[in-house]
Amino acid sequence: MIQYDKKHEVFKLDTPNTSYIIGIADGKYPGHIYYGKRLSDTDLAYLMRTGEHPAVPSVLPREKVSFYDCFPMEYPCGGTGYFRGECVNIRTAEGQEGLELTYATHRIYEGKKKLDGLPATWGQDCDTLELVLEDEVSGLQAVLSYTAFRDVDAITRSVRILNGGEQEIYLTKVFSACLHVDREDFEVLTLPGSWARERRIQRRNAGYGVTAVESVRGISGHQEHPFMALVSGGCTQTRGEVYAMNLVYSGNFIARSMADQFDRIQMTIGIHPERFCWKLEPQGVFQAPEAVLVYSDEGLGKMTRIFHRLYRTHLIRGFWKDRERPVLINNWEATYFDFNTEKLLSIAKEAAEAGIEMLVMDDGWFGHRDSDNSSLGDWFVNEEKLPGGLKYLADEVNRLGMKFGIWVEPEMISEDSRLYEAHPDWALQVKSRRPGQCREQLVLDLGRPEVADFIYGRLKEILSSANIEYVKWDMNRPLAEVENAVLPADRQGEMMHRYMLAVYQMQERLLKDFPKLLLENCCSGGGRFDPGMLYYSPQIWCSDDTDALERLAIQEGTQLLYPLSAIGAHVSDCPNHITGRRVSFETRGIVALSGTFGYELDITKLAPEEKKQIREQIALYKKYHHLMRNGTYYRIASWQENHLYDCYMVVSEDQTEALLTYVQVLAEANRRSRRIRLQGLLEHGLYELEGKTYRGDTLMYAGILIERMKGDMQAKLIPVKLLERVEE
Ligand code: DGJ
Repeated sequence: MIQYDKKHEVFKLDTPNTSYIIGIADGKYPGHIYYGKRLSDTDLAYLMRTGEHPAVPSVLPREKVSFYDCFPMEYPCGGTGYFRGECVNIRTAEGQEGLELTYATHRIYEGKKKLDGLPATWGQDCDTLELVLEDEVSGLQAVLSYTAFRDVDAITRSVRILNGGEQEIYLTKVFSACLHVDREDFEVLTLPGSWARERRIQRRNAGYGVTAVESVRGISGHQEHPFMALVSGGCTQTRGEVYAMNLVYSGNFIARSMADQFDRIQMTIGIHPERFCWKLEPQGVFQAPEAVLVYSDEGLGKMTRIFHRLYRTHLIRGFWKDRERPVLINNWEATYFDFNTEKLLSIAKEAAEAGIEMLVMDDGWFGHRDSDNSSLGDWFVNEEKLPGGLKYLADEVNRLGMKFGIWVEPEMISEDSRLYEAHPDWALQVKSRRPGQCREQLVLDLGRPEVADFIYGRLKEILSSANIEYVKWDMNRPLAEVENAVLPADRQGEMMHRYMLAVYQMQERLLKDFPKLLLENCCSGGGRFDPGMLYYSPQIWCSDDTDALERLAIQEGTQLLYPLSAIGAHVSDCPNHITGRRVSFETRGIVALSGTFGYELDITKLAPEEKKQIREQIALYKKYHHLMRNGTYYRIASWQENHLYDCYMVVSEDQTEALLTYVQVLAEANRRSRRIRLQGLLEHGLYELEGKTYRGDTLMYAGILIERMKGDMQAKLIPVKLLERVEE
């Protein structure tokens, strides 16, 4: 619900349990008043502190800059006296900077508009406020859009900029959201990482000054994540306040917190202004990506559940949104580039016997690609490896009762390729500078329509040539030199964002032409695991690191924001190819179960006992996938924090069923049992757990004892079932 209190010039946006309040000071200046637990009143303009010195400019015109320096601007502008990090700035053709966006009008309507060319949350069960701001001097207009969902406690924000003036303007910075909170010992929580070590939860004191995370790699990246949360000191899974922001975008970003001289923190998120400059002709429009805002008064767990719900019901789309995903086997770690039809069919045959439902052929099936140094761009089947081509292979796999899927990396070009020979200029590069290689490959300039059309045309032809029901869309290097051969000099700053728009457009075309295709995004593992990509693919390969112990941490960080159904998780070979660690087949299976389940190994080389375990693991997946897909997730313990054990559970929406996962990461001497308190059950329910009955309140507040197990990385799944509801 969205209310406008005309008398006090206050807008109040309500979700079921939160309120977000904006005021217009002096009839001109949009200020942030409040975000938090739902309030009933709108008379809160006093919180903008305009009664205090230096007051609003109409009262004290000589202190306008001081006003900007302490007023909680809802969308601060650069170059006119805002020193805490503006959200937007421009440069004119004469080189002048500066903006003063003030309130012009507003619109409130039901539902939510699509964002032009960009991924975004969707739905009708929501209301939108558009605050229209204008800069008198330049004629620039900014439309701040806020959507308050009625069925989930999330607010989304985005910004559309229109050049209403008569001169061309260069947009040098345009963030998507800004939030102010009075500082109370907040910590900043972010998700840094690295290739194969993605999304580790990090907390640090907000302190004074700036704390930022960013990417200028052209992808959201392994190293940082387009997410930031301010959490109250000592915040846990169940207690404390959280203000979180997540950007629905997969390219360059910055998330920033700034604690100022008056003990207030401003948090912002948006496209990174480095390597960004967008030219707006008169009447030109720029749409900035959407940011998701979540507030929790019950710790990180509640924040997580809000994100999961929002992304499951208002971001992920399409045929596979609510469908059980097939259990797949991918040949990457089984064969790397060394495979042929015969080898793949031998894997498929045994996989089918074990109950696996789809074979995914990874990198190496096209051009003359026998290693990672060639053929990207030559999307033609290597008939030496695959005689009879994709059709023969797909038909044979189908005959075994399995689906068939392929790997592609459409954004790339190898120097050693026919495509590069024909079109060396299609690779992103800067004139007279030799482009830097990464994994011996270059990036295609997808911002050029002829390049995008050619690559998409190849993709479409391949997918139409056989019964291909799944695509793993990979992306294995960052963007470095990004000049565009056809754009004029003053539009080169648009390249990074144009690239992202082109990728989104290509994935949109793919889904339109192949609506039943299961698309799994991947970026050297989890380098582009973000809400932007989730809008196109309901699942994303979470990390190239499939070691079960490392995966616990990677999946914990990923699950902090993203639903389990979105997280590609596979059982792989042992010793693990990346870490060399040995973990039992059973534990590897249990860890992979809390994602979109699959295998990444040479099944033909497994011992009969392990093949039998595959059948059992698949039976488990079939039994519990509905919980993993739709259940409510609770993090009970983290081995990243306690260094000993991990524990989490998923509970069905109606609280009649749950599954607890416990992993003893390190065995300890002289440790007996450990007490675990469950979450999310009915207090007055009688539940069955390991053959015994317990009341829900007992399980949640008193807990159960988990016997110690012998050895490191021992895991246990504990199903919980409601027997009956009992009278209070
Ligand atoms: C990186 C991916 O993350 C891997 O799973 C695999 O597909 C390779 N690329 C193939 O080159």
